[in-house]
Amino acid sequence: MTTIEQTMTIPAVVSRAGGSVDGPDSLIDATIPTPPTPTGHDLLVEVKAVSVNPVDVKVRASGNRGGTDRVLGWDAAGTVIAVGEEVTLFRPGDDVYYAGAIERPGSYASRQLVDERIVGPKPTSLSYAEAAALPLTGITAWEALFDKLGLTEDSTGTLLVLGAAGGVGSILIQLAKALTGVRVIATASRPESREWVRSLGADVIVDHSADDLDRQILAAAPGGVDYVFTSQSKGRIPLFTKVVRPFGEIVAIDDERDLDYFALKSKAISWHWEFMFTRPRYGYDLEAQHRALTRIAELVDVGRIRTTRTRTLTPIDASTLREAHRIVETGHAVGKIVVADRE
Ligand SMILES: NC(=O)c1ccc[n+]([C@@H]2O[C@H](COP(=O)([O-])OP(=O)(O)OC[C@H]3O[C@@H](n4cnc5c(N)ncnc54)[C@H](OP(=O)(O)O)[C@@H]3O)[C@@H](O)[C@H]2O)c1
Repeated sequence: MTTIEQTMTIPAVVSRAGGSVDGPDSLIDATIPTPPTPTGHDLLVEVKAVSVNPVDVKVRASGNRGGTDRVLGWDAAGTVIAVGEEVTLFRPGDDVYYAGAIERPGSYASRQLVDERIVGPKPTSLSYAEAAALPLTGITAWEALFDKLGLTEDSTGTLLVLGAAGGVGSILIQLAKALTGVRVIATASRPESREWVRSLGADVIVDHSADDLDRQILAAAPGGVDYVFTSQSKGRIPLFTKVVRPFGEIVAIDDERDLDYFALKSKAISWHWEFMFTRPRYGYDLEAQHRALTRIAELVDVGRIRTTRTRTLTPIDASTLREAHRIVETGHAVGKIVVADRE
């Protein structure tokens, strides 16, 4: 075990009451106790950059029922400063990136404990800010494409991506184009988001705000699409029954509870859920996330995929994080919003 000089407290941004982002105690600057010296598989990381995901916004907005300050934030890039006695994958001084576990204290703090098995080596060609954009969405996209849809480098056919310009869609399009043979139909409703998904490699772009979305998709895939990735599923079952071919497959990541899946039975369409916190929550096959992040870093460093960071806000404090939450909360962010002390 590596020991470190302990200071009593560290700076952090905490959610004291949660709720509206503009509420007085939604996100505030604070000091919190220094995390303990790491044990087991834990790394203690000095956090250099974080990115804000919709989950940060949802957890903050749902309110802080526990009544104690909560450190939010999952995506992070930083440097390992100490390791537990069972750690084998990293050493102090290594640069890392990770999305962590939803039940543990988050990344809006200058130091954070995280299990090495869900951590990857930071892409060496990226700054901390550029790297912090990738882990949560990269793991989600990786698990959706490869664990759930079962795509391989030999896969062909058409993949429809709903929510393509968002954080997850932006990395998922790139992974699908780099590592499989599928054609990507991406949805985007504005010139900025259309241009962004085109730059990431989308083959066809359709407008999800148009009344004839089904006709646009079937014009590009006349027999129906083989696969769907959706981060925007609300009200979309009728669309899927029309545009997915028999025996097609859908993977969804959002929180729509009232979908009429039975409508998919006639075409024997499969529905998969993907949740990137499942592995850390259940301690299931954790190292798969280390491997995914390692592979993504390699793909970045050889220039086959790129960071999805579109904005870096500085510095890391409550005011900046509130601003990032406001942008993500619009539901129309393009790529990823990062908060860091420098670009
Ligand atoms: N299960 C998991 O593990 C997991 C992981 C990550 C995220 N998620 C969830 O997945 C959802 C998306 O996350 P994200 O980070 O990709 O979000 P995001 O970055 O906030 O997504 C914004 C994008 O969504 C597009 N969009 C908005 N409304 C749409 C609609 N009705 N139809 C199609 N596209 C629409 C927008 O495109 P335009 O501006 O062109 O309209 C915008 O580019 C969130 O609910 C998040 O909590 C789940």
